[in-house]
Amino acid sequence: MKPSHSSSSTHLHLLILFLVLVLFVAAAAGDTTPTIFDTICGRNQTQDPEAFDVNFVTTMEMIFQNITESGFGAAVSGGANTVYGLGQCFGYLAPTSCQICYFQSRLKLPHCLPATDSRIYLDGCFLRYADHNVSADATDAYDTSVCGNASTNSSAFNDAATRLVANLTAGALNQTKFYQVGSASVAAGVSVYGMAQCWRSLNASGCRECLESARASAVKCLPATDGKALNAGCFVRYSTEPFYLAASSSGGGSSARRTIIVALTSVVAVLAVIGIIIIWKKMRSKDDLIDDLDGSGEYIRSISGSHLSFKYEDLRKATDNFNQINKLGQGGYGSVYKGVLSDGREIAVKRLFFTTRPWVDQFFNEVTLVSQVQHKNLVKLLGCSVEGPESLLVYEYLCNTSLDNFLFDSFKKNLLDWERRFEIIVGTAEGLSYLHSASEIRIIHRDIKASNILLDERFKPKIADFGLARNFMEDQSHLSTGLAGTFGYMAPEYIVHGQLTEKADIYSYGVLVLEIITGRKNHNSVASSDEGHSLMSLIWQHFNAKTVIELLDPCLQKRCPEEQALKVFQVGLLCAQASPNLRPPMWKVVELLNSESKELPLPSQPPFINVKGTSSKSNSSESPSVVTSSSKSPFSLNQISVSQLDASSSNVNSQ
Ligand SMILES: *[C@@H]1O[C@H](CO)[C@@H](O)[C@H](O)[C@H]1NC(C)=O
Ligand SMILES: *[C@@H]1O[C@H](CO)[C@@H](O)[C@H](O)[C@H]1NC(C)=O
Ligand SMILES: *[C@@H]1O[C@H](CO)[C@@H](O)[C@H](O)[C@H]1NC(C)=O
Ligand SMILES: *[C@@H]1O[C@H](CO)[C@@H](O)[C@H](O)[C@H]1NC(C)=O
Ligand SMILES: *[C@@H]1O[C@H](CO)[C@@H](O)[C@H](O)[C@H]1NC(C)=O
Ligand SMILES: *[C@@H]1O[C@H](CO)[C@@H](O)[C@H](O)[C@H]1NC(C)=O
Ligand SMILES: *[C@@H]1O[C@H](CO)[C@@H](O)[C@H](O)[C@H]1NC(C)=O
Ligand SMILES: *[C@@H]1O[C@H](CO)[C@@H](O)[C@H](O)[C@H]1NC(C)=O
Repeated sequence: MKPSHSSSSTHLHLLILFLVLVLFVAAAAGDTTPTIFDTICGRNQTQDPEAFDVNFVTTMEMIFQNITESGFGAAVSGGANTVYGLGQCFGYLAPTSCQICYFQSRLKLPHCLPATDSRIYLDGCFLRYADHNVSADATDAYDTSVCGNASTNSSAFNDAATRLVANLTAGALNQTKFYQVGSASVAAGVSVYGMAQCWRSLNASGCRECLESARASAVKCLPATDGKALNAGCFVRYSTEPFYLAASSSGGGSSARRTIIVALTSVVAVLAVIGIIIIWKKMRSKDDLIDDLDGSGEYIRSISGSHLSFKYEDLRKATDNFNQINKLGQGGYGSVYKGVLSDGREIAVKRLFFTTRPWVDQFFNEVTLVSQVQHKNLVKLLGCSVEGPESLLVYEYLCNTSLDNFLFDSFKKNLLDWERRFEIIVGTAEGLSYLHSASEIRIIHRDIKASNILLDERFKPKIADFGLARNFMEDQSHLSTGLAGTFGYMAPEYIVHGQLTEKADIYSYGVLVLEIITGRKNHNSVASSDEGHSLMSLIWQHFNAKTVIELLDPCLQKRCPEEQALKVFQVGLLCAQASPNLRPPMWKVVELLNSESKELPLPSQPPFINVKGTSSKSNSSESPSVVTSSSKSPFSLNQISVSQLDASSSNVNSQ
């Protein structure tokens, strides 16, 4: 027996076991995605969305551990920008269903970010996060009710439902888990079912207060056949449907039927698995060529055996348990840590804000594709971990961190002489040009900025954070923040209309080039800049007055070829023209930078300059802020612009 064969058959057995388990759980849980009753996002927004997001993720991970053990979890994380969280599964959910329900709520709740206090109610569980301790909240201004459409005109039903709800809300108080279900028959074939549940963090008096208010608001739904009260500290429901029996794992005749269904489903599942395996084996024996990426065979094989798949445990060890000391920085989609693998290889590990568990296969395909996009000016994606409690991406590690750490530091900027800066400008253009046209999959970066340009030991630039934006970040269900780029770098058509094409990257690149040679940050609004002018308008004025060379970074003055510097100014302005059509494509930019000729097109339009009154002065004075759907911003990327964004990005390929 060949060793390779024996190892692949072990994989096969594990695989069968895994698939059977997955299908069994899916069958046992019935309809696996619980209905969302309501999502309530708070009206206040956090001042620091990035820090808040990080704490949000940590808090949610902590709740996950507790809620799967006991059906209830409360947690807090973060010093500044503290995020409190509270999750409660309703008494009628079995542990597996509780996990699924928590998972669904965890997935949907980030829609509300950057609101500081939001909650979601599902058929089976509740989840809330806030910037303050909400454990004792019984009722508050966000309390609401959700009533069914259908109604009955039987007064007997109304009476029975009213009595039942009163009985259950009083009874729940006497239960250790603050939970009570019950039913009453109204007429032949008609019954009313109900439940009352307080979160376990309340004390008896808080629970009483909450249930009393919820009872009153639930019965206001009558004569609807279904009424739900959604309070800060409890949940009450009545319905003509036996909703808690459908979800519970114990109970009379319906349970027997379910057992049969589960058994049947399992048999079908096993048969299906055997079928898949036979097909898979056939495909393998026919030829060893790599089949197409959509084939399930390829997916299964790539996950289990791929060199792109890292073990979560290994990465946790490599980063010393995600020790703060190893933290390299914070990107739009997650925080990045330095790690050293057991074989001594240095890596950068990114913890994603969103979790990919439901899309493991798509995500893995995406990682596979992006890992094939390789260029000397692009940070290499080494792989990912999708099986642990959170999703991780693994990148090559670059020792000189990112460009912004040098460019905007009055001491360290001296390390960037003209040759290095020019090399960074050209290298970034080449990397971007490759992303836009030369690679197999066409990639719009969306967030070109100084902190996304990493530097290796010889100060060669590599663009970070590209590619995985394609499918995952576009879909709002993954995370609402992080859709937008960074303000000072964003193209006007992207900010105002949400149009996203390569031209938006070219604009950002133009801003970056001008920052590199002036050594100044492009502030996001006129108001926040010291001179009363944005960097862009300043450069434009000086360019027209033919005095632009005065704006060269003081530490470059007299230490660089003036003609070449002028050319770079001009290229920067060409790329940052307000009209997307006037900006040259990246391959052209590379050509312009490398050519000896002095013939350059003249920029005909001033750059997009002013976005007035977008963000508060205090946080825009130092760093450009990330655009979030702040109510203050006239350009917030709301639902409308996001859908335009999706439409336009799918058009890109056909242009
Ligand atoms: C929103 O913020 C204001 C001012 O900080 C505060 O007074 C108010 O209570 C907050 N509202 C909510 C719903 O948290
Ligand atoms: C949550 O889990 C942690 C560790 O698993 C445990 O120490 C803590 O007591 C739990 N808290 C609750 C409320 O169950
Ligand atoms: C939140 O408040 C409750 C009581 O109101 C308290 O028991 C709990 O320890 C608090 N949680 C934190 C994290 O401070
Ligand atoms: C309630 O009614 C509206 C319009 O009459 C309909 O669109 C909606 O689907 C109904 N919802 C349910 C749960 O039946
Ligand atoms: C309501 O009552 C009317 C007449 O009493 C009857 O025709 C109708 O079917 C009833 N509707 C429901 C939903 O029971
Ligand atoms: C609720 O109803 C049950 C059965 O009808 C009864 O035994 C129980 O005492 C009632 N509880 C309350 C609080 O009324
Ligand atoms: C709750 O329990 C107490 C005693 O433990 C009892 O006196 C009271 O009647 C009960 N209340 C209800 C509503 O069942
Ligand atoms: C219940 O909790 C509330 C809020 O934390 C507190 O004000 C009240 O004193 C507590 N009641 C009892 C009986 O512990």
